[in-house]
Amino acid sequence: MNILLTGGAGYIGSHTAVALSQAGYELVLLDNFCNSNPSVLERLQKILGKPLHCVEGDVRDTSLVTKTLREYKIDAVIHFAGLKAVGESVEKPIEYYTNNVQGTISLLEAMELVGVKKLVFSSSATVYGNPQYLPVDEAHPTGATNAYGRSKLHIEEMLKDVANSNSAWKIICLRYFNPVGAHESGLIGEDPGDIPGNLMPYIALVASGKLPSLNVFGNDYPTPDGTGVRDYIHVMDLAEGHLAALEYLSGYSGWDAINLGVGLGISVLDLVSAYKKISGRKIPFEILERRQGDIGECWAKVDMAYERLQWRAKRSIELSCQDSWRYICSNGLRKNI
Ligand code: NAD
Ligand code: UFG
Repeated sequence: MNILLTGGAGYIGSHTAVALSQAGYELVLLDNFCNSNPSVLERLQKILGKPLHCVEGDVRDTSLVTKTLREYKIDAVIHFAGLKAVGESVEKPIEYYTNNVQGTISLLEAMELVGVKKLVFSSSATVYGNPQYLPVDEAHPTGATNAYGRSKLHIEEMLKDVANSNSAWKIICLRYFNPVGAHESGLIGEDPGDIPGNLMPYIALVASGKLPSLNVFGNDYPTPDGTGVRDYIHVMDLAEGHLAALEYLSGYSGWDAINLGVGLGISVLDLVSAYKKISGRKIPFEILERRQGDIGECWAKVDMAYERLQWRAKRSIELSCQDSWRYICSNGLRKNI
């Protein structure tokens, strides 16, 4: 089966490429490298021991996507391509809607034209807004609090309309919780290219001495230690979730949204302790005010993923820290810090 991965050179896309390729799928990556580096392709080839097809270009270029779907006889698409920084989305909403929403429309047009009707979409737990109850299940009301989240919601709704329009469409929105860690080879991982906004990459840079200390955003949440609690999922577990979703698509029709998380809440300070133990480094931190727009707690109910996809996360938070640390140590990372 031939699969197109839009945004396949990015953090989650590259790890998914490993899982899919090792399961026997033929892959084509399409990426404009706006948030990734072409060197990831060599690294992927090193892990897989074989070349990978990659088309450099923008998902908004409908004729390029159409040509790619035809040329590589694509059977299904996993759509990772998009912008993902919450803060930036508030400052640049038009860029976010153009890239994320218009990018998806362009992809759908191309898929419709060529008759490719199987799609897995990268959605996010952010569509649940501030959770009204925990763990968050897929029936939880949706409601985003920023342009990034709203772009994901708009896309989910759009995909639902598309699936309703013709029973040939098979569409799954995977709502990721907090992806962390890296591939065990240390060759690929998360390299945000700037000062990280997310917790684990920030901790990693503090542990490596590249940043002096971690800012902990608030210790007055109603959580066991007062710091924010999230559901951190190893990126290879997440990658394998895509494999399970692709397999599920074969015998299914319509639209579904499914949580991909571990089902376990971990606090900021828990994560600092785990990383400290694994790295053997000091991780100084300072308690600051709450970060604007943050929620206190969010973790997933994961039963639907098990029932529908027969998939469950298997890797521990310690393994996530270990794999992240290996990646940081073997890559030096981040030219601009
Ligand atoms: P990433 O930025 O590492 O990867 C996205 C890739 O898409 C990059 O390689 C980028 O160059 C490419 N891209 C962006 N716009 C493009 C365009 N218009 N045309 C072609 N390529 C384009 O991000 P990631 O962490 O791998 O996230 C992948 C997807 O998962 C995104 O849609 C993101 O919103 C979603 N997601 C991520 C997280 C997270 O915490 N990482 C959580 C929930 C959902
Ligand atoms: N945090 C800190 N210091 C930091 C960074 C984060 O204390 O330097 C805290 C936050 O306050 C929060 C927790 O660490 O309590 C996790 O924060 P992240 O920024 O790593 O993750 P979020 O849950 O805020 O958001 C992430 C992605 C979103 C996505 C969401 C759900 O950034 O795009 O997970 O998938 F929508």
